[in-house]
Amino acid sequence: GKVAVLYGGRSAEREVSLRSGAAVLAGLQRAGVDAHGVDTRDYPLACLKEEGFESAFIVVHGRGGEDGTLQGALEHLGLPYTGSRVLGAALAMDKIRTKQVWRSMGLPTAEYRVVHKNSFSPDDSAALLAQFQGPVFVKPSHEGSSIGMTKATDADTLTRAIIEAFKFDDEVLLESFIQGDEYTVSILGEQALPAIRLRTPHDFYDYSAKYQSGDTEYLCPCGLSESEEAELGALSLDAFRAVAATGWGRVDLMRDADGQWWLLEVNTVPGMTETSLVPKAARVAGLSFDQLVVKVLEMAY
Ligand code: DAL
Ligand code: MG
Repeated sequence: GKVAVLYGGRSAEREVSLRSGAAVLAGLQRAGVDAHGVDTRDYPLACLKEEGFESAFIVVHGRGGEDGTLQGALEHLGLPYTGSRVLGAALAMDKIRTKQVWRSMGLPTAEYRVVHKNSFSPDDSAALLAQFQGPVFVKPSHEGSSIGMTKATDADTLTRAIIEAFKFDDEVLLESFIQGDEYTVSILGEQALPAIRLRTPHDFYDYSAKYQSGDTEYLCPCGLSESEEAELGALSLDAFRAVAATGWGRVDLMRDADGQWWLLEVNTVPGMTETSLVPKAARVAGLSFDQLVVKVLEMAY
């Protein structure tokens, strides 16, 4: 049947989604699927049924696409769609509630505090910082692609980082900065794909490292032993299922100098440009980009 590739949207990750959407659309079409691109910013979703679409492939990143709202609209229309349902998408888009769920289940995620726009005062920064052992990572709770994220090392930089994050969100996460290596594990169905280790000359894997600078190294196979890789895959699947995510996605983690894993977040609509992480992992697992998108589509319901 006719497939709508939903992309674009209105979030801060719109530009990334336009690239992901174009790649997914081209991949599906090369595979012989009757796929059509739909920019959700300009298109009333109610028309999907009238125009004869029978399912939707969601490639809208961030709020309004990856956070349960689009999923809810599709439920309402009765159209099958890819990836997580309403709950999984909403929960994974919320970094604070994601951490609360993980901690309640004994899954490893770094120490954190929450600050709210309507109650934060710059006078609070020194006391907030004193509750951490070292640098603090400041993140808008509901953003992606490292947008609005800054590392803070003293009260002044913390205040500035919090004010920057408030540009994107009323709720801001302060997280203990894990010194170590960043890894990501792609999930396809019930399976963890080979992990990727990210090596960037930047202070962390920021927006520029992700999409602009081209100076990130992607190691896949990532260099872990077979048993370490299996342990990482199992942890990632646990973390993915804990937030009720389904179908496909990507779990981001850090590994500290002692080899301890720390969960960062789950992406239920991960980047899908031709150079993105999930396609890289799929390729190492023997799946081409086109086979990957067909597989994700086949799991739509
Ligand atoms: N939020 C971006 C798209 C990612 O996680 O790949
Ligand atoms: Mg993300």
